[in-house]
Amino acid sequence: MLIECRSNVIKKPVVIIDDDRNILELTSLILSKHGFQPYVADSAHEGFELISRHSPELVLLDYIMPEMDGLAALQLIKSRFPDTYVVMLTGKGSEEIAVELMKNGASEYVLKPFNNRNLVERLQNVLRIREIELHNRELQKQQDHLLFEIEQWNYELQKRVREKSEALQDAQDEIVQSEKLAALGYLSAGMAHEIRNPLNSIALFIQLMRQTSTEPDQLEYQSKVLKEVERIDSIIRKLLDASRRTRVISSNVQINQVVDSAIEAFSPQIESRKIQVERQYHCVPQPITADPAELGQIFTNLFLNALDAMNRGGLLAIEIFEEDSRVIVRVSDSGTGIAEDVLPSIFDPFFSTKNRGTGMGLPVAQRIVRMYEGNMKVESSSPEGTTFRLEFPVCS
Ligand SMILES: Nc1ncnc2c1ncn2[C@@H]1O[C@H](COP(=O)(O)OP(=O)(O)OP(=O)(O)O)[C@@H](O)[C@H]1O
Ligand SMILES: [Mg+2]
Repeated sequence: MLIECRSNVIKKPVVIIDDDRNILELTSLILSKHGFQPYVADSAHEGFELISRHSPELVLLDYIMPEMDGLAALQLIKSRFPDTYVVMLTGKGSEEIAVELMKNGASEYVLKPFNNRNLVERLQNVLRIREIELHNRELQKQQDHLLFEIEQWNYELQKRVREKSEALQDAQDEIVQSEKLAALGYLSAGMAHEIRNPLNSIALFIQLMRQTSTEPDQLEYQSKVLKEVERIDSIIRKLLDASRRTRVISSNVQINQVVDSAIEAFSPQIESRKIQVERQYHCVPQPITADPAELGQIFTNLFLNALDAMNRGGLLAIEIFEEDSRVIVRVSDSGTGIAEDVLPSIFDPFFSTKNRGTGMGLPVAQRIVRMYEGNMKVESSSPEGTTFRLEFPVCS
């Protein structure tokens, strides 16, 4: 049986579930007089249907019904309709059961038989409590949401602080490095002149001695001295390169041409050591404003290192492409790679793992790249080889 009592005024829906028709009629009469819209059902099953159709704030539920006991019905209602509050109707003498029902989610219990005033007052109480509890639940939800957002902001803030600190540390490292290079430039310019003159004299005297020497040992020693003199001279030249020189800036330097001429300069070593050169120029890169000689220096230093790292028959690969208005050049070799513990130091002036290295190749290359607002880094390195990635802004 499913009875719906209709009224013209919009009232609060209440579902009453009881197998006793008298109770249903009486309760529904009382409630409709006090501003409620009662919907009645004489079985739990029909009651559920009414609840899902009308979403009432309140349900009056009989504890003893033939088809399903009140506790099971109560549990079902609370799990399926958590915002619906349930008032249990229990017979006299079943207060203990009523307590059990409250533990299971009932909001109130009313002992049968009940009188009008008592029933309405208690239902209104439950409705007030319901309103407060739902409001609290909503506030709790909002609070949880706000706490979650605060946590997210905190996380974001910490991330930004970390990023900024890292950027600051990088900037400080850069300052230290450029200060070292500046001091080096100042010193080397002065030293070069002082050292090169006596060096020239040494070379000259050795050459004179060679003209008169006949002893094979003597000749060998003299040639070794000459070689060492040349080495000192080349170190001085590198130091001079690191110091400032007059730049010849051009606004349309084609980086592929700069790379090609740098490779060209190494062709004797490349050929004699059977190094394979692979060029992948994906586009004609937009011109760069730069001093071509300075840019050439970058690639010379990189190719020197690559050749040092490779055995006979190695592979030197150069890739050029554009990305986000920047020209990207990747220089890869199939050399021995850079050890992990060495990697953080390779751009430091004077850092070298080579017996005869000055440790100026990479710091000089990096200084030039940065001068053109570019960027240079080791993209990857393993015992199979190393790839450097360089980025340059194109002319705007
Ligand atoms: N392509 C590479 N493969 C392996 N190791 C490299 C490579 N490029 C650089 N390195 C490492 O980085 C170090 C520093 O390089 P950098 O060019 O500054 O100095 P160097 O080559 O040792 O000396 P210089 O270039 O002044 O003669 C090298 O000693 C080497 O250990
Ligand atoms: Mg080098």
